[in-house]
Amino acid sequence: MVLTALFSCGTAQNKENKQENNGATETTTVTEQTQNNNTMKALVTYFSASGVTRNAAKQVADIIGADLFEITPEQLYTDADLDWRDKQSRSTIEMNDKSSRPAIKDGGKVKNLDQYDVVYVGFPIWWYTAPTIINTFIEANDFTGKTIVPFATSGGSNIKKACEDLQATYPDYKFGEGKLLNSINKADIERWAAAVK
Ligand SMILES: Cc1cc2nc3c(=O)[nH]c(=O)nc-3n(C[C@H](O)[C@H](O)[C@H](O)COP(=O)(O)O)c2cc1C
Repeated sequence: MVLTALFSCGTAQNKENKQENNGATETTTVTEQTQNNNTMKALVTYFSASGVTRNAAKQVADIIGADLFEITPEQLYTDADLDWRDKQSRSTIEMNDKSSRPAIKDGGKVKNLDQYDVVYVGFPIWWYTAPTIINTFIEANDFTGKTIVPFATSGGSNIKKACEDLQATYPDYKFGEGKLLNSINKADIERWAAAVK
């Protein structure tokens, strides 16, 4: 696979939330806070197959003071599923089929979505775009009146095509500037979040 250059398109109350990830139990903290840049309340959602995007999402949520929601596949991805060199692997088959909608554990519907104005949606870049489980997630929820802000991690590809694909698939939804988060800079994240309308 050719990996191309990097640019981007575009008073707490804590609850403990246990989630299964490839057999390991992970404890994530759902933090309920008011966003610091303006009056818009934000939720950071993410799908992560091998932990890189999860780490980025947690840092974003921490920096901007947002709640966190993991998009957990009903069937977790194994290493074999993620083998992009294998034409028969689960990820290859899903990414070759634009209509594939991998199931999300518990349906992927965000409870209390009404309280959020901005929903960050994070994912690993797969084949230059967003994994189709992100489509499952977007279609499981009603984002009318909200701003969806994509972010991603990758092996080097940018997020541009993922942003364009999402906007083209969901033309009625408002998307904010997407950002590739292969490295995280606090001031940069704060500027990015403050620019969301
Ligand atoms: C099936 C598959 C396809 C991928 N396609 C790309 C790609 O097109 N460009 C790229 O830079 N990285 C690609 N990657 C690498 C991931 O985007 C990268 O490792 C990411 O940080 C993984 O995030 P995660 O740990 O949250 O799953 C791919 C990885 C997988 C498993």
